[in-house]
Amino acid sequence: MWIRRTRNTLPFVFAILVVAVTLFGLSPNSQSDPAFKNVQVLTDLSMDELKEYMAEITEHIGAEKCTFCHVRDKSSDEVEHKVVAREYMKLVRELNDGFFKEKEDKVTCFTCHKGEKHVTNHPDDEGAE
Ligand code: HEC
Ligand code: HEC
Repeated sequence: MWIRRTRNTLPFVFAILVVAVTLFGLSPNSQSDPAFKNVQVLTDLSMDELKEYMAEITEHIGAEKCTFCHVRDKSSDEVEHKVVAREYMKLVRELNDGFFKEKEDKVTCFTCHKGEKHVTNHPDDEGAE
């Protein structure tokens, strides 16, 4: 009885799986959102998530405005701060996927920047340029 019921439901389960894989397995989240032109690190973020992240890091490093890193075309790498920021995004991801993987508290830009553009590396420092 139980076996027969399982047999009857199997094609259903299979059909649902096929639909699920089609809908989600090929979703653009494994690559960057096609709306983006030059996203190299944050490739798993949707448009909404990326915008949220950008607002967050702007605050974390005390950048005040998006224009600290961006010109009108946000995909452009014209502003040096953006190029530097991308390297720090890589670093933060490496740390959180590595040493901090099992830790509850992850590293953010704020961990070092504390809301400031200049990071102070030593108690006597004015902050790095
Ligand atoms: C500290 C520098 C920095 C600040 C400030 C910043 N961004 Fe970004 N932004 C980046 C970097 C770096 C990338 C590319 C990320 C990558 O390659 O994964 C990016 C990518 C983007 C993209 C994708 C563009 C494309 O098509 O390639 C958008 C949209 C964007 N930012 C919007 C914003 C907005 C809106 C703000 C302000 C709330 C902002 N950013 C503030 C550094 C910054
Ligand atoms: C491990 C500590 C650390 C973390 C985490 C960190 N930074 Fe930094 N950041 C520094 C230090 C130190 C400097 C100064 C040296 C330099 O310019 O690269 C700096 C400099 C910068 C600069 C250049 C500022 C300027 O005025 O020219 C940008 C932009 C920046 N960081 C963005 C980021 C962003 C965005 C994140 C998060 C994704 C981040 N940083 C995370 C330590 C850190």
